Amino acid sequence: MLANNQPANISSFQHEDRVFPPPKGFAAQAHIKSMAQYRKLYNESVNSPEKFWGKQAKEELVWFKPWKKVLEWKAPFAKWFVGAKLNVSYNCLDRHLNTITANKAALIWEGEPAGTGVLGEERTLTYKQLHREVCLFANVLKRNGLKKGDRAIIYLPMVPEAAIAMLACARIGVVHSVVFGGFSAQSVADRIHDCQAKLVITADGGFRRGAIVPLKQNVDDALGIQNASGEVLAKTIQKVIVLRRANNGIHIQEGRDVWWHREMDNVSADCPAEPMDSEAPLFILYTSGSTGKPKGILHTTGGYLLGAKMTSKYVFDLQAMDTYWCTADVGWVTGHSYVVYGPLANGATSLMYEGAPNFPEPDRFWRIVEKYGVTILYTAPTAIRAFMKWGTEWPRKHNLSSLRLLGTVGEPINPEAWIWYHEVIGGKRCPIVDTWWQTETGGIMITPLPGATPTKPGTATLPFFGVLPEVVDDQGKAVPRNSGGKLVIRKPWPSMLRGIWGDMQRYRDTYWSEVKGSYFTGDGCRQDKDGYFWIVGRIDDVLNVAGHRIGTAEVESALVSNHKVAEAAVVGRPDDLKGQALVAFVTVKGGVTADQKLRDELRNHVAKEIGPVAKPDDIRFAEALPKTRSGKIMRRLLKQIASGGEIKGDTTTLEDLSVLARLSSSEE
Ligand code: WTA
Repeated sequence: MLANNQPANISSFQHEDRVFPPPKGFAAQAHIKSMAQYRKLYNESVNSPEKFWGKQAKEELVWFKPWKKVLEWKAPFAKWFVGAKLNVSYNCLDRHLNTITANKAALIWEGEPAGTGVLGEERTLTYKQLHREVCLFANVLKRNGLKKGDRAIIYLPMVPEAAIAMLACARIGVVHSVVFGGFSAQSVADRIHDCQAKLVITADGGFRRGAIVPLKQNVDDALGIQNASGEVLAKTIQKVIVLRRANNGIHIQEGRDVWWHREMDNVSADCPAEPMDSEAPLFILYTSGSTGKPKGILHTTGGYLLGAKMTSKYVFDLQAMDTYWCTADVGWVTGHSYVVYGPLANGATSLMYEGAPNFPEPDRFWRIVEKYGVTILYTAPTAIRAFMKWGTEWPRKHNLSSLRLLGTVGEPINPEAWIWYHEVIGGKRCPIVDTWWQTETGGIMITPLPGATPTKPGTATLPFFGVLPEVVDDQGKAVPRNSGGKLVIRKPWPSMLRGIWGDMQRYRDTYWSEVKGSYFTGDGCRQDKDGYFWIVGRIDDVLNVAGHRIGTAEVESALVSNHKVAEAAVVGRPDDLKGQALVAFVTVKGGVTADQKLRDELRNHVAKEIGPVAKPDDIRFAEALPKTRSGKIMRRLLKQIASGGEIKGDTTTLEDLSVLARLSSSEE
């Protein structure tokens, strides 16, 4: 089977024989010290999952009330720690307050704006301070009408208040849905509408590459958007809490908008953590699928937190002295599990940086590593490829010797980038954990354990505890080693999604129907002779552009919502930097001139509909899109066209793709 969205430079066989054993010194002090120890625990975890997870849950988390049953599995619906009660914010904060961790930095933050000389504003919040802020803000939420079970949208820059808002919601049982700041007003409105949120937490603006992202303005716009039948999408919103960050003089609507700092002055710092059912919703995070609008992936309390905590501890081998930095934005799942919940549940120090890696210069990350003595760095292959392009002189300017472990996530890493990361950033001494997982899985699923697993550049290696992945054919049968197939997960795991918000049928159809009885990941994969999993990329119509998931259907419907567009088909093509780039084939309506101006207009239109992250890299105009006899767009052909050949520049001559379609033997 061909992975149709295979990213650039995955020359997977080339480096397969290069094996990097864990450095000796590293293994000696790691939580998991050998493959034998990993195998023993792994076998226990899959052979007696309930016993294994019951024991882990007891050891790792503080529960207000014990469970009656570890797992209730009525496929495809799982309940973990049935009947138990706990609170996520309590486990991330309160539990550390009577320990040596109380005055340790929970969050170290650096803002993007850089003066000359000394860079960036900085703030540090100890566990005690963070606890206080979270209690105050939880009371602010209550004061503004939120109750257990209500939904709140968080649309903030990467500032400590993003974590504070998340934890405050969790503290009182409000379900949060964080929307990445790179999404548009329309996307905010769609999400509010889908989860019927009552309140938005935002900021006047955030800083990104020296410019201000007008978050509050986007919220104002979002709250006015109507659907085709004139219904205001965000009509459930009663309040907007606004953090002052950019001081960009925004409009405050009396009665609806309140300032974060003013509200904080009017509440008490006493807010006990609400005992929540283990299966109570914790958050909804929207992610792109192969059809329609983004799906609201639902995660619940006990299982999610256990997954986030254990993976953080074992995959990043968190130790008391670590300064851990996951560079993801909290708008993505990686930010949820590995900036906020996982590290804080472990009492670790989590670093947050607001801005771009190359602002004001391409060494910003390395300055930060040096300045704070970062020991663990977790980032995306796209970023690594960008650093490679910018040149080794930037990291070489800084002392990176504090680093002891490196991680990657979000897309396959090409071996060349892996080797560069290992040598230039890791000084050949740091193990690399290439972690495969998804918004849906809640936590890391396939990964090396840094003190145990010998790594090979380009593979996420072996499953984490309790995870039973398999590579199967179209009939759902396991394929032999070294053959390609679909990646599925055979058994439920604690941090798995519990469904799609408001659409359980779509949950069944998307994840549990492709391969009967198993969770279908949407990824293509191959297992090598050692059983290592090599992810080749999505095999559905989801693209992975710079580590961001983008649904082709979503971009297509954004394009056709422009009145000049007749038809659109969006495909990926390999891109050296971003893994994949977005190529849109567009036919225009009669009388419309297809030119560079229209290209720009359409790109901006997509940015308005979805967000700048979904802007097509290329737009190619065609007379007609190639179709099969039954009228289906021949995507495979379009992918080939997109991947090869020169893109025509400003031209009014439309490409005649139907000719190619007739020449092509493929009918699918
Ligand atoms: C891809 C991000 C290869 C994969 C945590 C998956 C990866 C999608 C890796 C999920 C990896 C993530 N190697 N591919 N280490 N990690 N992916 O939901 O295609 O934003 O299905 O979650 O990213 O993206 P999502």
